[in-house]
Amino acid sequence: MKPVIALIILSAAASLPVGAQCCKNPETATCTCRATAMIQGEQWLDTDGNPINAHGAGMLFHNGKYYLYGEYKVGETILPDWATWECYRTDVTGVSCYSSTDLQNWKFEGLALKAHEDPEHDLHASKVLERPKVVYNAATGKFVMWAHVESADYSKAAAGVAVSDSPTGPFEYLGSFRPNNAMSRDQTIFVDDDGKAYQFASSENNATMYINELSDDYLRPTGKFTRNFIGESREAPAVFKRNGRYYVLTSGCSGWDPNQAQIAVADNIMGPWTLIGDPCTGPDADKTFYAQSTYVQPVQGKTDCYLAMFDRWNKTDLKNSRYVWLPIVWTDDDKPSIPWNDKVEIR
Ligand code: DGJ
Repeated sequence: MKPVIALIILSAAASLPVGAQCCKNPETATCTCRATAMIQGEQWLDTDGNPINAHGAGMLFHNGKYYLYGEYKVGETILPDWATWECYRTDVTGVSCYSSTDLQNWKFEGLALKAHEDPEHDLHASKVLERPKVVYNAATGKFVMWAHVESADYSKAAAGVAVSDSPTGPFEYLGSFRPNNAMSRDQTIFVDDDGKAYQFASSENNATMYINELSDDYLRPTGKFTRNFIGESREAPAVFKRNGRYYVLTSGCSGWDPNQAQIAVADNIMGPWTLIGDPCTGPDADKTFYAQSTYVQPVQGKTDCYLAMFDRWNKTDLKNSRYVWLPIVWTDDDKPSIPWNDKVEIR
């Protein structure tokens, strides 16, 4: 391993107990909390002292702040009577947004995108909304959200798009479609240095991953796409770029249950992709530490510093799913590796 200088984002709070430290202002009766420990798989609290509720999350860095967006899961987890597989779901409530300057203290900014009352609407409580990702379009000045929108039986397999003037929303829902007429389930959006954006989506019943080039306003596919990892059933794509090369971290396809991660590299975003293998090391690495990838966030102001974000799903009580965030390190032969660490430390 290359020597690394550790920036421990817990350093200011490392000696404090798990949970938020809250102090109440007697004059205003408001409470301000400072998050303390970010222990993998434990409950992480926001600055109001509430559990961070952002599953299948994505992140955006904009004007000095990180924004975290995720599935806002409340209420019962339901397995319908007609289910022939473990299609556990919670009602759609919307997409949560949190902001932070340090990746540790997260302020709840509310629901950036809200559920809809019309039973026919994609965002009705009875449907499924997963893996929201938000990107900023410098040309239009708009924030664009893409998400996986589903029917309760997961047969819709479509992408929903929403737009806002502000990173915290409200986002206006524009509708859904199947990009390039192909199924679109687990998905992410990647914006390249030249401003071009791409959607990565599990398609063809999750057997093949599509990379769909997006229009200049990021609202539609251009029609140019490639089929990747054909027949390999990869899900949960998380894409990043380092030294001009592209990397995609994915999971296997086993519903809410954990499986082995895989990372691939390409010189061209549209492929071809070369498999590197499982980047995870340490206990339970072959099960991705009982978690599943969702996003990789470059840490600002650090060279070669990428934070890999995972969900540790609790399939029968999805709102109580937890998070695992681990930095990617680079081996001596320049391959990405994700070693286990029981707390969030960025190196
Ligand atoms: C795995 C996906 O990665 C999740 O986002 C979700 O769609 C579950 N499958 C549903 O089983």
